[in-house]
Amino acid sequence: MPEPLLRLESISKSFGSTPILKGISLEVQAGEFLTLLGPSGCGKTTTLRVIGGFEHPDDGRVFLAGAEVTDLPPYRRDVHTVFQNYALFPHLNVAENVAFGLVLRGMPKGAADVRVREALALVKLSGFESRRISQISGGQQQRVALARALVGRPSLLLLDEPLGALDLKLRKAMQLELKAIQRKLGLAFIYVTHDQEEALTMSDRIAVFNHGVIEQLGAPKDIYEHPRSSFVADFIGAANILDAKLTRLTDTEAVLLLENEVELRVPRPKTLDAAEGETVRVALRPERIEVLFSQASASASGLTHLPALLREAVYLGSATQIFLEPFKTGKTLVATTMDPVEKQLNGNASGQRVWLEIRPSDIRILERSAA
Ligand SMILES: Nc1ncnc2c1ncn2[C@@H]1O[C@H](COP(=O)(O)OP(=O)(O)OP(=O)(O)O)[C@@H](O)[C@H]1O
Ligand SMILES: [Mg+2]
Repeated sequence: MPEPLLRLESISKSFGSTPILKGISLEVQAGEFLTLLGPSGCGKTTTLRVIGGFEHPDDGRVFLAGAEVTDLPPYRRDVHTVFQNYALFPHLNVAENVAFGLVLRGMPKGAADVRVREALALVKLSGFESRRISQISGGQQQRVALARALVGRPSLLLLDEPLGALDLKLRKAMQLELKAIQRKLGLAFIYVTHDQEEALTMSDRIAVFNHGVIEQLGAPKDIYEHPRSSFVADFIGAANILDAKLTRLTDTEAVLLLENEVELRVPRPKTLDAAEGETVRVALRPERIEVLFSQASASASGLTHLPALLREAVYLGSATQIFLEPFKTGKTLVATTMDPVEKQLNGNASGQRVWLEIRPSDIRILERSAA
């Protein structure tokens, strides 16, 4: 493994007596797109500020390209931060905003002009050089902030919810553009968002934050397919979370009693910190539950079929969400399907009997249940 571009070593930070970061360790490779994802207040911005040098950690160390920078001020780090509010200068025009850092560093005007033109072309703002900041849209302001970050050619860019102020359509378009720029320049990005879809779309790896710790770190697919806790399962995508007793455990298999009712054999996960006899949480993705409207079709092997009552079907345009009751406890499961189901629903759907088809290997064992 080459020396990582960034290394955080057990970073802790409290504000007053409240611990905010509780031992964050992290490595980012050159050219990597890493996303910090988590709910409001979990410490994402604080982590970025520690990396950028705007906060000093109480404990732990920050390394850039192998050299410790924990005590260096922001301007002595080869890092640029794009803040959520863009922090543009309203009295300067677009080109002057982008050139600002270069001028400060004493770059001659001719050279700076070339760099500014390149950066503006990269964010598709050629021709906007002399516009005032007040005369361009929010999306364009976002691009100016990005151009200003790129113009100094840092090897690491920190972006704090850079698309937060944009409407959904523009946001989606900018996600693809940002990713394309990052790839083209081979820059490392550390990108903060609380939008899980954005994180899945853009990242090489995602660090899922919860209350000042990283709950899970991995590639988008890994995090989505193999969440290790109900927090992660529920925060990334939708998940049905159930209780299950581990009635038997072998080297390869776990036998689960779901909701005290349904027995299922699932592959034993690689890491499992629960023992036989204990109760764990398990997750099942809504798109992994198939709803069958007649028992006759419930025949394929290797699959489990559960009778259930259909409670509600909600039409969402591209998919239908179906609420189901497979257990005596009345616990509701959600399934989503892209298939048209209107025809199979008998008018007022509630109470209709259906069968749920589940692949046991789609069940993910999470943490030990507190109950
Ligand atoms: N300078 C400060 N003084 C005191 N408390 C602070 C300070 N900065 C942040 N906090 C607190 O630290 C916690 C984490 O804040 P942080 O800004 O890192 O969260 P975040 O994950 O970025 O959240 P959001 O998604 O809402 O931006 C919050 O409870 C916040 O109120
Ligand atoms: Mg924040």
